[in-house]
Amino acid sequence: MMKKGQIEELISRALAARERAYAPYSGFAVGAALLASSGKIYEGCNIENVSHGLAICAERVALFRAVADGEREFVALAVASEGGAMPCGACRQVLAEFAEELAIIVADTEKTWRIFTLEELLPERFGARVWTKRGANERRG
Ligand code: THU
Repeated sequence: MMKKGQIEELISRALAARERAYAPYSGFAVGAALLASSGKIYEGCNIENVSHGLAICAERVALFRAVADGEREFVALAVASEGGAMPCGACRQVLAEFAEELAIIVADTEKTWRIFTLEELLPERFGARVWTKRGANERRG
């Protein structure tokens, strides 16, 4: 269970990260704050590109920063955007690579937010455990 203080801190960090979004094409700014088991919080914002398909979501930026910093276990993620947009499917799958269980807080403002589990948002996912159980030969065939 997440403590109220932890949730508030993550939302405020996600809102702060949203200020740094680079979203000149969509005009839709997103911020994320990811709490690692170490206690450290990693922020991310969406970063777009003139070649539109190369845009990356705030959630993945936060996760990649954390993993590049040596983190492998995560507790919770807050995502902040106008209207409280849900994390996209690609981000859900990428997050699931590093977190069997993850609380996902979807926020619009400091006071308007909802909390989910990753399992709720990505049920019956394609799992790394199933994949690695299979032998290399089987995989090639
Ligand atoms: N975006 C995110 O950063 N996170 C999401 O979960 C959904 C979408 C970004 C990508 C793009 O820069 C903008 O929002 C509009 O799709």
